[in-house]
Amino acid sequence: MAGPYDDKAAIAEGVRAGAHRELIGGLWDEIGRLQLDFLLTQGLLPTNHVLDIGCGSLRAGVRLVRYLDSGHYFGTDLNESLLQAGYEIEIAREGLQDKLPRTNLVTDGEFDFSWCAVSFDVAIAQSVFTHLPLNDLRVCPETSCGITELS
Ligand SMILES: C[S@@+](CC[C@H](N)C(=O)[O-])C[C@H]1O[C@@H](n2cnc3c(N)ncnc32)[C@H](O)[C@@H]1O
Repeated sequence: MAGPYDDKAAIAEGVRAGAHRELIGGLWDEIGRLQLDFLLTQGLLPTNHVLDIGCGSLRAGVRLVRYLDSGHYFGTDLNESLLQAGYEIEIAREGLQDKLPRTNLVTDGEFDFSWCAVSFDVAIAQSVFTHLPLNDLRVCPETSCGITELS
């Protein structure tokens, strides 16, 4: 069974129509803030390296890039078009492109973190697993990126 984000052409069409915020669930400010606030209550520091799995168009990413040290935010997503909108529209609008190397945004739907060059302090996956078909959940391994809980 396919998930709602598996039709990449349809998602890309929606992004071209300017609907990237709606496509990842809307509530842009509310859910973006909620994610940053949650991580801050868990002890997130600007020096931490963060992996945002299924980051979409950077609803949390915009806030995390602003908060974290330059280059410390990484995001993956099944849909390159959503990453593109996040970088070229949302990150650009906030003037944050200098803090986020484009290579930190990785198109991946297999939970393959072998590209990781850093050891992450924290990972977040907001509203991702709730949208995955059962078979995709099965392929999500425990990550080998050295993710540890914040103390
Ligand atoms: C509801 S959106 C949430 C996006 C983001 N976490 C946020 O809070 O704005 C779900 C996201 O998960 C992505 N996604 C779905 N299946 C995925 C997979 N197998 N691997 C990575 N991302 C996936 C979708 O493309 C979509 O961007």
